[in-house]
Amino acid sequence: MIYEANVDEIDFSIKGDARGYLVPFEDGVNMPFAPKRFYYLYGTDTEIQRGFHAHKELKQLLIATSGSVRIQCEWNGLKKKFLLDSPTKGLLLEGMVWHVMDKFSPDCILSVLASDIYNEADYVRNYDDFKKYEAEYLNSF
Ligand code: TYD
Repeated sequence: MIYEANVDEIDFSIKGDARGYLVPFEDGVNMPFAPKRFYYLYGTDTEIQRGFHAHKELKQLLIATSGSVRIQCEWNGLKKKFLLDSPTKGLLLEGMVWHVMDKFSPDCILSVLASDIYNEADYVRNYDDFKKYEAEYLNSF
């Protein structure tokens, strides 16, 4: 397993005119990876918390294309909360980032571009296992 963990907030460049706005993503231009999968979460109850996992290798770009959601992240010994509340910004999660999504607004559509197809073997769903991988990495310097 290659240990990689990174989180980036990205402000998208917007194409707009009198008709409205458009945000394009192109491999090799402004996409941090070539997506192989797209999925979205909608109709999530405002009291629900989901996620509670990290990925060994997967990269994902999260976008609240409608409404808002909070993403709590933990990686490389850091903890940070992000608010996605605009279709003009995204959160890039690369590899071993423990993440929890909550505070979904009733109109939230959380769109996700992923670097690979769904693979349960890429998930780390146990928090203690995540901390073990993270500690091994942080102690390797
Ligand atoms: P899961 O990853 O458990 O959701 P969470 O984001 O809360 O951790 O996924 C929920 C269900 O959907 C689970 O049965 C797996 C399935 N699923 C797919 O089939 N394909 C996908 O791309 C994703 C993300 C989930």
